[in-house]
Amino acid sequence: MLSLPTYIRLAKEMKTRLIELTSSNTEHALSEASLVIKSGGLVVFPTETVYGLGADATNEEALKKIFVAKGRPSDNPIIVHIANISELSKLTDEVSIIESKLIEKFWPGPLTFIFNKKNFVPAVLSGGLETVAVRMPAHPFAHELLLRAGVPIGAPSANTSGRPSGTTGAHALDDLMGKVDLIIDGGSSEIGVESTVVRVLDKKILILRAGSVTREMIQDSIPESEVDFALDKKDLDASPGTRYRHYAPNARLEIISGDMALRKVELEKEGKKVGIICSNANKDLFSPDEKVFILGDRGDLGEISKNLYQALRYFDAHLVDVVLCESFPEDGLGKAIMDRLKKASNA
Ligand code: TXA
Ligand code: MG
Repeated sequence: MLSLPTYIRLAKEMKTRLIELTSSNTEHALSEASLVIKSGGLVVFPTETVYGLGADATNEEALKKIFVAKGRPSDNPIIVHIANISELSKLTDEVSIIESKLIEKFWPGPLTFIFNKKNFVPAVLSGGLETVAVRMPAHPFAHELLLRAGVPIGAPSANTSGRPSGTTGAHALDDLMGKVDLIIDGGSSEIGVESTVVRVLDKKILILRAGSVTREMIQDSIPESEVDFALDKKDLDASPGTRYRHYAPNARLEIISGDMALRKVELEKEGKKVGIICSNANKDLFSPDEKVFILGDRGDLGEISKNLYQALRYFDAHLVDVVLCESFPEDGLGKAIMDRLKKASNA
């Protein structure tokens, strides 16, 4: 890892400006960031889930720059972020009663809806689909930036395509320095995994991507509906991002539900260098000098998800051949965590 002063120097040379948010410079950061958005540039900004790489969602040329900066396939559509519910009617004519109830309950927050789009929503946003993804972020900086910019902001996660989403300003710098105009560093993302993505079809709610708005939370708020994870290929094809390899560290990742120490010994016998990602429950299996990243308490999945991408990126900087990661139960937020781990492990 580079030290922060080195980052700042490099960022300057590469024409990427970095503003670290403090209690006294929010005003300055907001006016700089909104200016970049309005002038068709790219801004990395914090949200409550992960960092976003944002551009004016009404400006096709600006949106195209996002794909270049990330190395993202052009058929992978982008989530539109809005600050007010009134902006939704500019993007879609069709909001069902179920969607309205979910919006009422979970916006602003980490829930993204796939709506049938209005004709003039740029094709570059929707990846050529007839739909548009929309979310209203809860993070105060993101919210205020949307208000100041005065336009919706199209923003995928702030990372090179295929890598774990950026959950700190340093992650965004690692991946996007020299490729964006401005990075707003607001510290660690509170949630740490991307928003839940849902598609409501008639009375059925399909979860295309698990997140911190869990299946259980959605079911509790709409008891009369069926809530399911999209499983079959047809459903998942409706969310193109799920086709690509994701969240992947450089080393091979294995998810371990059994004895982590035993598996480590086996791999070491084969001459492999092994990294460990585990909760406090397993940390005593390893000595402190070994390459171990501790996610937090197993009982606190919020803490585990917050640290997850940091852990995956950690082992890119500490060369190992294999990373062993503890397995988590797949309900509640555990579903989102395991979903990311499985994607990262399936090379
Ligand atoms: O938490 C988040 O959602 C973050 C922050 C920045 O808001 N954004 C994010 O964006 O994770 P991205 O682009 O990394 O992931 C968006 C996912 C992708 O899997 C994409 O395929 C899917 O949403 N998506 C976007 N538009 C869609 C559409 N019209 N239909 C189906 N899936 C869509
Ligand atoms: Mg992403």
